[in-house]
Formats: sequence, C-alpha cells, structure tokens
Amino acid sequence: MKKVRFGDSASVPALGMGSWNLGDSTASRNEEIASLHMGLDAGLSVIDTAEMYGSGRSEHLVGEAIRNRRKEVFLISKVLPSNASFSKTLRSCEASLDRLGTDYLDLYLLHWRGSIPLEETIEALTTLKAKGMIRRWGVSNFDTDDMRELDLLSSDCAANQILYNLEARGAEFDLLTRDRNAGIVSIAYSPLGQGGDLLDDPVLTDIARHHETATGPASPAQIALAWTLRHPNILAIPKAGTRTHMRDNIAALDLELTGKECEQLDKRFSPPQYKTPLEMI
Ligand SMILES: NC(=O)c1ccc[n+]([C@@H]2O[C@H](COP(=O)([O-])OP(=O)(O)OC[C@H]3O[C@@H](n4cnc5c(N)ncnc54)[C@H](OP(=O)(O)O)[C@@H]3O)[C@@H](O)[C@H]2O)c1
Repeated sequence: MKKVRFGDSASVPALGMGSWNLGDSTASRNEEIASLHMGLDAGLSVIDTAEMYGSGRSEHLVGEAIRNRRKEVFLISKVLPSNASFSKTLRSCEASLDRLGTDYLDLYLLHWRGSIPLEETIEALTTLKAKGMIRRWGVSNFDTDDMRELDLLSSDCAANQILYNLEARGAEFDLLTRDRNAGIVSIAYSPLGQGGDLLDDPVLTDIARHHETATGPASPAQIALAWTLRHPNILAIPKAGTRTHMRDNIAALDLELTGKECEQLDKRFSPPQYKTPLEMI
C-alpha cells in the first residue's frame, strides 16, 4: 500500500478517512461506524476529525468506532483558532481526548490561522507533546507565507492540511514542493470536491470507463483520488459515510493513471501558472 512518511519516520497509508458531518444523524450512525470499520479492516489507519465538526459529534462517533481498536488508528484532531490561546488549546485537547475516548492524538492541528499569535499556540502544542497528549502537531489551511513565518518559530511542524483536488490545484504552484522539501506531510482535504460537480465531470467519467478496479468498473471518484494520490507524500482523506463509498475509495489505491490521462486532466483542470491565495472551505 502506498505510504507517506512523517519527519519523525512514522509512516501511514496515503489514503485516510475524513469525518466531517459524521455523527450528525442518528439514523446513519451505524452505517457510518461500519464504513470506518471497513476502512480500518483494509488498513486505512488515518482518521481525521476536529472539535469543530458537529460541535464534537464527529469526535464522539469516531471515539465509538475506534473503541478497542485504538492501536490500529493514526488519529488526527484539530483545535479551532478561537481556542488557540495557550490555556484554551490545552483545554480543547483534553476535551477532544475525552470525546474520542483516548489519552493521546497522533497528530493535532491548528484548524486555520486566527488572531492568536502563532508563538502562543506553538507553546501550547509543544506542552501537549511533552505531556504525551499528542505525538506530533501541525497546521491546516496555511499558505506559503504562513509556513515561512512558522519556520522562523519552530521546525517541529509535522503536517499542513490543505484543500487539494482537481478543482483546487493552487497548492501545486509552490506550497506542495515547499512543504515536501521541509519534511512536512501535505494532507489533502476534500479530495472528492465534497462529492459535488467534480464527480459528474465528463473527462473523469471518460477516464473511469477505461479502468477496472477490485470493485468493478472504475468510478470518477476513484479517478479523482488516484490523481490526488499520484504525488509523493500526499495523504488524502476522503470522507465516506457509507460502505459502498468506502469500498470504492479503498480500491482507488490500486488505480494508476497513465501519463496521457494526466495530460487530459491537466487540459480540463489547468495546473496553476502563477501564485494564488490558498483556497479553503
Ligand atoms: N482542515 C480543514 O479545514 C478541512 C476542511 C474540509 C474537510 N476537511 C477534512 O477532510 C475530509 C474530506 O473532505 P470533505 O468531507 O469536505 O469532502 P470529500 O471527502 O471530498 O467528499 C465527501 C463527499 O463525497 C462523497 N463520497 C465519498 N466517497 C465517494 C465515492 N467513492 N463516490 C461518490 N461519492 C463519494 C461522500 O458521500 P457519503 O458521505 O454519503 O459517503 C460525501 O458527500 C473531511 O471529512 C474532514 O475530515 C478538513
């Protein structure tokens, strides 16, 4: 299975699982947990959540899904910028651990940059790491200038979670390379364009028609994932609330796009020619 490696040598499968909106509805709860279990059974160890998602409901659901399976999981959560002061970050992390039913996170991210000075948040993240409550920390939605500023304050950042998919390729201009050269893992969120128009795109649909996967004829979603995963050291975290979608996503790990198909995709979704501000959802 394709892997990504963190600066401290920890390595995880390049395909992980998102969890935004999971846990919001009682009716779909069992299916969502079954979907996460299917991913874990296939070896997808990374689960991404955040205190923001459903005001803790996602963390509760993930906690239920990983009960008795904690050791198999590489668990990511995030602190809101409004909670990123020294004392509130510590409190937020404790509350996340409580909801998740665990005593450590593998990775804790600042969800996006807010008004609290970065130094103060880094001090809190460093304290959490020293206490063993988190194994490593990182950021999310940080553009190249933010990363440069962060570099001046610490060399301990493990990951930068960013919007990255065929429709949002701005990070290719310089951010992906910069982070990779600095030993920072890029985590691609919304790799399926949130299940929107991207998955009906005629070019993706046509490319999918030429591929078979373990689950049968390829789907546009699998093409979108295979495209995101083609980069070295990118971890993609699609969210699948159903086992049908999870099965489809797992099979995408074995799908290789040809050079010609990548060219077709470049023609349809142009790579950036100049720097644009990092988009975020
Ligand atoms: N750091 C940040 O600021 C940030 C922002 C956004 C997201 N995230 C993280 O990234 C994760 C993924 O992003 P996302 O949830 O925004 O969007 P996404 O993963 O791009 O898309 C999720 C949507 O695609 C559908 N889907 C999943 N697999 C599919 C398949 N094989 N075929 C067709 N449809 C499929 C899902 O439906 P079902 O649920 O019905 O299966 C859902 O509607 C989030 O869950 C969250 O953990 C982070």
